[in-house]
Amino acid sequence: MTGASFSVRSADEAMQRDRLGLQLTAANGEAARAFDDAVWAYVGFSREPGVPLKRALQADPAMPMALCLQGYFMHLMGLPALLAKARSAHASLESNPGLNPRERAHAAALGAWCEGELERCCEILDGILREQPRDFLALKLANYLYFYLGDAANVRDGPARALPHWDQSTPGYGHLLALHAFGLEECGDYAAAERAGRRATEINPADPWAVHAVAHVMEMQERSTEGVLWIETLAPHWDTANFFRYHLWWHLALMHWGAGRFDEALRLYDARVWGEGSNENLSLCNDISLLARLELAGVDVGGRWDAVAKVVREQSGSSVLAFADAHYALALGSAPAAVGSATSHGTTARVHDMIGRAVCEGVVAWRGKDYRRATELLTPVRKDLWKLGGSHAQRDLFVLILLDSALQIGDQTLARTLLTERAILRPDGRLPAQFTVAKE
Ligand SMILES: [Fe+2]
Repeated sequence: MTGASFSVRSADEAMQRDRLGLQLTAANGEAARAFDDAVWAYVGFSREPGVPLKRALQADPAMPMALCLQGYFMHLMGLPALLAKARSAHASLESNPGLNPRERAHAAALGAWCEGELERCCEILDGILREQPRDFLALKLANYLYFYLGDAANVRDGPARALPHWDQSTPGYGHLLALHAFGLEECGDYAAAERAGRRATEINPADPWAVHAVAHVMEMQERSTEGVLWIETLAPHWDTANFFRYHLWWHLALMHWGAGRFDEALRLYDARVWGEGSNENLSLCNDISLLARLELAGVDVGGRWDAVAKVVREQSGSSVLAFADAHYALALGSAPAAVGSATSHGTTARVHDMIGRAVCEGVVAWRGKDYRRATELLTPVRKDLWKLGGSHAQRDLFVLILLDSALQIGDQTLARTLLTERAILRPDGRLPAQFTVAKE
């Protein structure tokens, strides 16, 4: 009897709560607080979310949610070399019988991610959110994965499902609005996206995701003068963010590119986009996308491709996301080895089978000036580009490469079709003079 009551008291002592009231198993309050700080450092795009996480694991090396977060962070960095560390965190969780149901579900989500099964990971995270709609970590991770699955409806609807469980005084409300804003934008609801994004920016101008959502609206609506002002005015706030700040500089360069100011876009590439030491998937995609767009506009980018290709090669030449691999192929001038690997499995391998391989080979053909082959490879897959994941603005690169290839081989009919399709989401679409298509 005494033993039983002792064990119950021990369990109570081990149960902590995060700032939204969710229960955490932790050996002490210090571990729980440090874990909570790490989650919000991640949600808020802080530069060093690993620092509080390390503190949490020092205070309690077996803390379940801290181990889950460690595994998630390894995946979020998107480097194949880190997968072993994610698996090791998952193995520690598997051998722990003391997890609460949410922690067990997070461990299962991490396990699905380790197997490369991103859809299954999302299903598990959504299951957690049905029980715990205020689990911001699950929400944010699902949002990230749906984005790279090309599932715009769920990018929008995950935050929409959570909103009724928040009010303006709930921690993270601004971040939640920002997530919703971007999902609305990707679903083409530009007015609602801008309202939500502006409100989120008012709440927290240092939330780069809020600034980013509005920037996307302006990009899709070709409001480049406004877009430049929007991004630049808020830069003192968001430029303190982690590597995501390079993506906002990329958006600024894109605004200049859209307005035909290629010199300024190239200047921004050198000064801001090509971030020294930034080897994350997203940063490399920014670099590659901007260099390719500048070349599409007839700009000589000199030896800049070599520097990017070197960083890509240092990461074994491939990523864990089909979206990034399609960019890496451009930098390498060849399809990343993992794209053609018969041993690979999981979501990314399936996406490569469906579309990724064709896109990689198509952009490589374009860089090699084999425009006929680029056209043959990219034309059949152009309507499925969403399966690569990423945003409309990012995937536009592949449409532009196909459009350029069509024009290079004189296929005006295909070029007109592509412009018509592009106008569905960008009715005021403007393009550099190189893309001028003859009227029928
Ligand atoms: Fe973006």
